[in-house]
Amino acid sequence: ELVDLDAADYDLGGYEHFLRKEIGEQPEAVERCISGRIDERFSTVKLGGLNLEPHDLRAIKRVHILGCGSAYYSGEVGAHLIESLARIPATAEAASEYRYRNPVIDPNGLYIAVSQSGETADTLAAVEELTRKGARVLGVINQVGSAIARSNNGGIYIHAGPEVSVASSKSFTSTCVAFAMLAIHLGRIRDLSPADGDRMITALRELPAKIAAILEQEDQIEEAAGWLAGFENAMFIGRVRGYPIAREGAQKIKEVAYLHAEAYQAAELKHGPLALICPEMPVVAVVADDELAEKQRSTLHEIKARQGPILAIAHETLPTELAERTIVVPRTEPELDPILMNIPLQLLAYHAARALGRDIDKPRNLAKSVTVE
Ligand code: G6P
Repeated sequence: ELVDLDAADYDLGGYEHFLRKEIGEQPEAVERCISGRIDERFSTVKLGGLNLEPHDLRAIKRVHILGCGSAYYSGEVGAHLIESLARIPATAEAASEYRYRNPVIDPNGLYIAVSQSGETADTLAAVEELTRKGARVLGVINQVGSAIARSNNGGIYIHAGPEVSVASSKSFTSTCVAFAMLAIHLGRIRDLSPADGDRMITALRELPAKIAAILEQEDQIEEAAGWLAGFENAMFIGRVRGYPIAREGAQKIKEVAYLHAEAYQAAELKHGPLALICPEMPVVAVVADDELAEKQRSTLHEIKARQGPILAIAHETLPTELAERTIVVPRTEPELDPILMNIPLQLLAYHAARALGRDIDKPRNLAKSVTVE
């Protein structure tokens, strides 16, 4: 197997599991991803591998992102970043389904394939179909020289380093950071102001230290994970830019802790799943103190009124009585909140899996890279 890394070839560096080691490597991984790419002079970033001139990038009317599993969810984070910073409509979808709907190729669209390994068969097939039909495809990839990297017109390497754990952690985070850089770049050749460019590059630079600060709260997250592991189900909620990481958080809990978890857009709760809320249905709520904070708080009230126990991933302003447990994350620019808020969710899944004695680095039925359809 070409890309399934053999754990025996890698050093655990004193950790019990690769997943925990790789979660801990994120400050350095993010540093590497942004290193050499900040362009102070023009309040933007430089991405050398795109192989597209500014006038080509300006002609893009829509961005379509494709990936599988966590790569797909990081693409959803990326779509929000591109829409908000570059004001280009952007969406993400599962690469595994893509070619089967005989896709209509958007002549003014930019297609982006996301893959840690660069070898996922479903993503590669989507790229081949797109290329065959004449689309312009970029990659956001970890593995240099991988099959998907070779079939693209260009792209961004995330430089996360080898990821051994089947469940992704640092590659997810670094992919989101790569999308933030792409969004800044696309934004700055359009209407993102120099001041906003500076605001974003400063925030990018501060991410590694903020991720390290979240990792310091591991004891508290471990306690919450022990509590969560006592349930059979969990609901993960978020809104707009927080929803993709609710999905990723639920995915991680399923993958490594084998706990049934569902992710919902917080505002959709009342249209159905609110019927599930009761003392046996814990809710993990991603609640940034952003423009939707008030609405998020009223959702927490609704959950509380039905005795649903809440674990909030929030900023320091969330009133403590709204949740049984709160993990407070540092502030960054609102656009980058999902990147920081996902870190506690990774540790949550890791420690829930540990509490339940799961095979953390090689969960049952899963493979690091699925190279067959
Ligand atoms: C597998 C892994 C997932 C991963 C997905 C996409 O299903 O178990 O953790 O997110 O493949 O992998 P890729 O290498 O394309 O990012």
